[in-house]
Amino acid sequence: PALGVNSNGTRDLVEVLRDNDKNYLVLYGSQTGTAEDYAKKFGKELTARFQLRVMVADLEHYDFDTLNELPDNIPVTFVISTYGEGDFPDGSVNFEQYLNELDAEMLDNLRFSIFGLGNTTYEFFNGAARKALDKLQNAGARLIGALGEGDDGAGTTDEDYLTWKEETIELLQTELDLSEDEDKQFESSFGYTELTTIENNTSLGEPSKQYLPNATLQYNSEGEQRGPFDLAQPYIAPIIKTKELFQSKDRNCIHTEFDISGSEITYQTGDHLAIWPSNPDEAVSQFLRVFELNPETIFDLKAKDSTMKLPFLCPTTVGAVVRHYLEITGPISRQTLGLLVSYAPESIKDHIITLSKDKSLFASEILASKFNLADALLSLNNGQTWSGVPWLLLIEMLPKLSPRYYSISSSSLSEPNTIHATSIVENTPNDTTGINTIGVTTNLLRNIQLVKTQGDLTSLPVHYDLEGPRGLFANGQLPIHVRHSTFRLPKDNSIPVIMIGPGTGVAPFRGFVRERFAEIKRDGSDSLEKMGKMVLFYGSRDNDDYLYRDEWVEYSKTLEDKFEIDVALSRVQEQKIYVQHRLAERKEEISQLLQKGAYVYVCGDAKRMAKDVQHAIANILSETKGLTESEAQEVVKAMKVAGKYQEDIW
Ligand code: 2AM
Repeated sequence: PALGVNSNGTRDLVEVLRDNDKNYLVLYGSQTGTAEDYAKKFGKELTARFQLRVMVADLEHYDFDTLNELPDNIPVTFVISTYGEGDFPDGSVNFEQYLNELDAEMLDNLRFSIFGLGNTTYEFFNGAARKALDKLQNAGARLIGALGEGDDGAGTTDEDYLTWKEETIELLQTELDLSEDEDKQFESSFGYTELTTIENNTSLGEPSKQYLPNATLQYNSEGEQRGPFDLAQPYIAPIIKTKELFQSKDRNCIHTEFDISGSEITYQTGDHLAIWPSNPDEAVSQFLRVFELNPETIFDLKAKDSTMKLPFLCPTTVGAVVRHYLEITGPISRQTLGLLVSYAPESIKDHIITLSKDKSLFASEILASKFNLADALLSLNNGQTWSGVPWLLLIEMLPKLSPRYYSISSSSLSEPNTIHATSIVENTPNDTTGINTIGVTTNLLRNIQLVKTQGDLTSLPVHYDLEGPRGLFANGQLPIHVRHSTFRLPKDNSIPVIMIGPGTGVAPFRGFVRERFAEIKRDGSDSLEKMGKMVLFYGSRDNDDYLYRDEWVEYSKTLEDKFEIDVALSRVQEQKIYVQHRLAERKEEISQLLQKGAYVYVCGDAKRMAKDVQHAIANILSETKGLTESEAQEVVKAMKVAGKYQEDIW
């Protein structure tokens, strides 16, 4: 049966709960898997501490008509992430629709708690969770505790979760009269069997299991991969071109071209490319070492009931899961350390307990060192391993390795069969520990670039298993899928556009310019006259990291005065010069372009650049149009709502 649907094929929550004898419900709406991870963590904790039989379910898989009729009024915990402009995750639109149709008192039996995942650098912080809260309360549901709001922008999601969770669980203890089992032992949600061999031996050799235990790859009778390609299934794309755009002491920029011809994948200029990473050799072996794991171990998991889904395809090997499924290079969370307390070596147990409880000590001793989980545990135990940590605990508590998203730098008109990505590889080790936060995908792209162009990997800071028994990566193939965005050129190409994209923020604008370049090639130079002007405000440190420098010259030859690039080099003079300074210098011209209906596009850093740029545009409006500062801000907001001021920022 499909996920979450019981043997009768029902999407009815109450029926599934009853059939599986559950007495607590956690519902999540997740875009990239983070909300799902937190939902599972929460459910896991309720089970471990209070023996609650928790059903953790995706909002996508259910209807909600019976939400007010849950047996014994069991409370529901919602974990919902916000995406885009305060939107619900794609899979939760049915839930949003349900919320919109609620009337007063329709949920007067429901009690619930709610945690949202959001990012304060975006306009509508936790928009989805806030809306859900509002609608549920208006329908008479009773909130337990307060809305929890994770802020990825401040990097505090983990701490925000912990604070919310501690309060909420305390209240739940009273509400449900729960008593805690002090002698709690980790109990897995899955049945586990180790296998010496696999009966159907071929299945383990499939790329989907060996390399991507978290995806099912589907093929047609010709042996071609069948879509849809999304978070559940990537397309294994050949890399047909890769080159280094620049190299400096601490950074490299890699341009990569993926072949999607004959693949069912389509994209539009302005979309995002998801690239599925795997963990580098160094991180994998460090992880295996600290937990004394054997990568060759073959194992199988079985779900204990029909509300559970397996985290990945089984049977598989420990090595495949560590390399391709678990997020092991990210910073270790305090919660994770807390879950490991029972397995801490006796000599350091007290210290581990203190660290797991003391937020500021944890920040200074662990986070500041840029330690990942294995680094931290080894360092805390003087380089010695931690034996006895259950392998299933690691599988269930660690976040899963998720794809990384890049703004596509090609145009679907100009290159319908390839997708270009532009990525910066940062290698800046921590001053004291020498430890580097490893960008798993960017380093992988760089490795492939070096293998393809030089065959030399000796000087790399991190290494990947590029060979592999089935050679998935050997020819430089990587799993990808496309995520559609709303970042789009105006349909009418007579509308002028102002593009602001310093650094790799220039990526989608390369796509935009190539798009209009291809239109002129297609329609002839006569069509140039009615084309709107494109001005690109680009910024780099100096001439060495000036991206696609030669290309812009080429585009100008065809697009003539309809394309202009204005470059802010920030580090070639004493004073910083940024894109927003260039905008301000050209305020009259910008103002006239806006008057003519120009669209504004901003791509790149969300924390500061996008805000500074928005401020600069508002300033221009206020100075040239005689508006007050707040009136000008309102105009920009209205432009955003009308889709005339678009951001692709991170
Ligand atoms: P800097 O690193 O010299 O400060 C691409 O990263 C370019 O964006 C660099 O030239 C960088 O300058 C610049 N940059 C940094 N902060 C910025 C900001 N707040 N607004 C605009 N550009 C910025």
